[in-house]
Amino acid sequence: MNDTVLVVDFGAQYAQLIARRVREAHVYSEIVPSTISADEVRTKSPAAIILSGGPKSVYAVPAPSLDPAIYDLGIPILGICYGAQLMAQQLGGEVANTGIGEYGRTALTRHGSSVLLTDWPATSTTWMSHGDAIAKAPEGFVVTASSPEAPVAVMEDVGRRLHAVQFHPEVAHTERGQELLTNFLHHVALTPPTWTNTSIIEDQVALIRAQVGSERVLCALSGGVDSAVAAALVTKAVATQLTCVFVDTGLMRKNEGDQIEETFTRQFGVELIHVKAEDRFFDALAGVTDPEKKRKIIGELFIREFETVARDLAKDGQGPRFLVQGTLYPDVIESGSGHAANIKSHHNVGGLPEDLSFELIEPLRALFKDEVRHVGEELGLPTEIVWRQPFPGPGLGVRIVGEVTRERAEILRNADYVVVDEIKKAGLYRELWQSFAVLPAVRTVGVMGDGRTYAYPIIIRAVTSDDAMTADWARLPYEVIESIANRLIREVEGVNRVALDVTSKPPGTIEWE
Ligand code: XMP
Repeated sequence: MNDTVLVVDFGAQYAQLIARRVREAHVYSEIVPSTISADEVRTKSPAAIILSGGPKSVYAVPAPSLDPAIYDLGIPILGICYGAQLMAQQLGGEVANTGIGEYGRTALTRHGSSVLLTDWPATSTTWMSHGDAIAKAPEGFVVTASSPEAPVAVMEDVGRRLHAVQFHPEVAHTERGQELLTNFLHHVALTPPTWTNTSIIEDQVALIRAQVGSERVLCALSGGVDSAVAAALVTKAVATQLTCVFVDTGLMRKNEGDQIEETFTRQFGVELIHVKAEDRFFDALAGVTDPEKKRKIIGELFIREFETVARDLAKDGQGPRFLVQGTLYPDVIESGSGHAANIKSHHNVGGLPEDLSFELIEPLRALFKDEVRHVGEELGLPTEIVWRQPFPGPGLGVRIVGEVTRERAEILRNADYVVVDEIKKAGLYRELWQSFAVLPAVRTVGVMGDGRTYAYPIIIRAVTSDDAMTADWARLPYEVIESIANRLIREVEGVNRVALDVTSKPPGTIEWE
């Protein structure tokens, strides 16, 4: 038996959240498809299994199911929502299609003693989202809690270590949800809390050393969190064999290049090739206004710059054999295969050419974003890098509507700095998904001092989001908007007006292009 918990995915995004919560309890978790067989589970030999919720009814045709032999493996199982109903149905209980569901905060009443609900009060608030409900628990199970529309809201077979809950312990609205998961993991499944930042780092360092031996390694740094943490891990493992490349496109945030250089060259002592490619990017972008064309030019040129460095390094016949990539666990799950298919550039704007054949090092491929940030902190990366908001691959290029010129990029870079600086001062930076400035392709009339001005407006864009698929415009306090606006006019030459974007996604996108 190993210490891994398998989270069986019955659809939607439920499994990812459960997997993250398990890891918050310091237990390693892995998401597996519901088609997994009992033999495959036996091979993986997990410490426990959690069946996720899902959008379907167990009576839907087809409805995702579970190989029933898995229940007989003697592995502790926790069923959640759909997973609970499926467990009830497969083990001989009854699921009723009542037509009356429960959605949102729901009171849970416990009955007698319960392994899962140890120390829970007689009633507590849980988060439910179900149409069907378990009407009768299978033989051997004891019902330990109910809710108004779910007579079997918690059922447990302590002997077989099979447990099921109708509510969602993984969501924050369930008052003691994390406690329940921890209880299941540590007291039912007896998994030790060994998944920590330190253990992640130690394991990865050992793996990287084993993988690369004495070969050389190349890493492209973008200024983003993932590539920085991946590079820091490789630095810890094989610092002297690593070469980092930072391509300055001229479309980076203020001080981004300096900060990368400071961190990796001076703090970590890594060889860093800082390609100052601004001129080539601005030349290629001259006169181009179409957003897709801009993206394409930036993406292709970036690859060409990277390729030039890689070829130069290879000239002496000792070129790097390995390439570091900041692939995260959600990318791995979403790619379906368990293997990220292609080398994708860290910029997500195009692939690297195929004739540049590297072997990949992906030290973050088992990690969620929040874990990456914590590992980064532990590795000593500066807070400004570790907690950086997402930044698009094409950089400021997709925030400059119309032609991208050196002058306009400079205006936007300075404006972006002011927006972010004020947001940070207001203590809002981490809770916002993104907050930045946009430069539109219009100029307007203004008056400053005694003179008339004809200059650019800056648009403040700030959104909250969980995954960037949807987003809401952030309700920034008036005082924050005011101080941003005052500073933009005062400090950023070329700006004479400030507007606020109050568009959510949909219908808008987060970026302007
Ligand atoms: P949109 O603007 O489509 O953006 O709502 C969703 C998220 O993706 C980021 N974004 C990009 N990231 N290359 C990237 O690597 C791109 O071309 C790109 N365009 C948008 C954006 O910042 C947001 O977080």
